[in-house]
Amino acid sequence: MSAETTAPSLLFGPGLTDVRMMVVAHTSFRRELRLAVPAVRRVRVGDVRRAEEVAAHVDLWTGLVEHHHSIEDELLWDRLVERVPDELAPLVQLMEDQHESVHRLLDGCPPLVSVWRASASVDDGTRLADHLAGLGAALCEHLDAEESRVLPLMARHITPGEWEEFTERGMESIPKGMLLTGFGMMLYEGDPEAIALEVAKLPAPLRPILPVLGRWAFRRYARRMHGTATPQRGTD
Ligand SMILES: [Fe+2]
Repeated sequence: MSAETTAPSLLFGPGLTDVRMMVVAHTSFRRELRLAVPAVRRVRVGDVRRAEEVAAHVDLWTGLVEHHHSIEDELLWDRLVERVPDELAPLVQLMEDQHESVHRLLDGCPPLVSVWRASASVDDGTRLADHLAGLGAALCEHLDAEESRVLPLMARHITPGEWEEFTERGMESIPKGMLLTGFGMMLYEGDPEAIALEVAKLPAPLRPILPVLGRWAFRRYARRMHGTATPQRGTD
């Protein structure tokens, strides 16, 4: 996380829409994309079976980031530009430039992934890992700026109903078989209070079980993908 971490008090409270779940999602993006780089580098030459598993991880996370950005533009950013153009004016160029460079790097992933998953060669793996490292750096720079400069404006000018639609659409992008793992990924280092508010929206019988199952699913996934149940945190 950058030095310009946002004061949590700007992201929820009286008269504000609680937007803390955005930080929770971003933290998972930071962690999983950063960890994808060594995961690719660790695959042994010619081990196409393992390359396939790691490639699926890369596809999943690049897809989630892409979807996150597109619903952000559609449901939040465009409304914000309409509602508070003056406050956003100094940020529009920065945000658009950052989105563009992240998207250029995202677009570069599928061809590199497809070549590497078929060959599992050192050269193809190095090309993909280097590309992912560049993507991770560009993405972190963008997420840091968004959290510190745009998110407080969203808390003030996006309605709770609009926010709810955004979080629901975000959940829809997680493949059904990954829902528990995805929830565990958020629990791993997300703001417990913000997550508890989301859990409270679930049917009562699910509330106590889901965090337990989510943590279990994440540990299992992290061991398989990153070689440890407690991988380096996105906030480190
Ligand atoms: Fe975001």
